[in-house]
Amino acid sequence: MMTLIGPFSQLLTLDGIPLKGAVSDSQLQIIRDGALVVEGDRISAVGAYDELKRDYPSAAVQTIEGDAVCLPGLIDVHTHICWGGSRAGDYASRIAGKTYLEIAEEGGGINVSVRGTRKASSGELFEGLRKRALRHLREGVTTCEVKSGYGLDRESELKVLRVIGRADGELPIDLIPTALSAHIRPFDFDGTDREYIDYVLHEILPDVKKENLADRADIFIDRGAFSKDDGAYFLRQASDMGFKLTVHADQFSSGTSSIAVSAHALSADHLESISEEDIDLLAASTTVAVALPGCSIGLGMNYAPARKLLDKGASLAISTDWNPGSAPMGDLLMQASLISAAEKLSSAETFAAITCRAAAALDLGDRGILKEGLLADFIMFPTDDYREILYNQGKIKPSAIWKKGVKV
Ligand code: NIG
Ligand code: FE
Repeated sequence: MMTLIGPFSQLLTLDGIPLKGAVSDSQLQIIRDGALVVEGDRISAVGAYDELKRDYPSAAVQTIEGDAVCLPGLIDVHTHICWGGSRAGDYASRIAGKTYLEIAEEGGGINVSVRGTRKASSGELFEGLRKRALRHLREGVTTCEVKSGYGLDRESELKVLRVIGRADGELPIDLIPTALSAHIRPFDFDGTDREYIDYVLHEILPDVKKENLADRADIFIDRGAFSKDDGAYFLRQASDMGFKLTVHADQFSSGTSSIAVSAHALSADHLESISEEDIDLLAASTTVAVALPGCSIGLGMNYAPARKLLDKGASLAISTDWNPGSAPMGDLLMQASLISAAEKLSSAETFAAITCRAAAALDLGDRGILKEGLLADFIMFPTDDYREILYNQGKIKPSAIWKKGVKV
């Protein structure tokens, strides 16, 4: 059955936005009094409401009353929202003056979440993940990547990835799993960093593959995590095993996004400390630069140089990094608004960074744009002017959300 949904005061398709480089708002395709025709989980047509009503006379009609701006469903490409325990203690220490790295060296940080996540049952982990994923969905996120990385032993990593798979199956939001078993060497691993990487490669990832729990792998390359050599080694092996790659790069020290580029990673994420040289390398590559403003806010540090990356020609996605430690807020639209104000990003660049360019970072060709044949994932805001959305810095929430053609 076909359904005509509209009219929307403005419908932003994001179609025709290039995958890389700076974009001005004049490049936005805005359809006034626009509508979509949806059949099953896909979009059959996008256009002016009056024309579609004439062309699809037998379609059922879902009439939109009042002011409404329609956008593709938002895509968050970097989260760690399956965890147990709390890191409120870390946060209190940080705002009292300790750094993230100092807290980690003293036994706080990621290892606190490892203990909490190992202790939690699958049911408890599921409940936490369900609550966070549904909050994201209500705020317009229809596709959300979720990393493991707080289990850090075979059994616990598989437990977390199974919970993510269950939540993906049961909730009306797509959850894209990533194995971040190479987050850090956990406190209780008896061996070197390289031995832990080998443990991940030989004891965890083969089972992740066998059970089809994730086809993406990630690693944290930085001070307090893994060295560049270990990182490059891991990425080569994981790629040979058939995993798509993404990298936590250039957060505290520079020189790691070039490793992501050499490994043909889909994305290099963080980039708060990226060097000029690596900006050029990223810009010349197909690796998407992912800025994580929620982490900059959570740690009280600078944003990734998003303006410079775009001006040099890179593809930019913006994501929340929602996690219990460095980025506890988890509000994609608010964070995209804040980084766009600080870095001077156009509305077109900011929307592209949380829709079509985010889809590219996840290698998902079926979403992120409102176009015939793609998934009917779209959201609506109660305003007649798209500029109001970023202007209100996350305080105008979507008034309706459609996931795979169904209003949720
Ligand atoms: O993306 N940088 C490393 N990993 C996460 C933080 C994890 C944590 O502190 O729990 C991040 O910021
Ligand atoms: Fe992260």
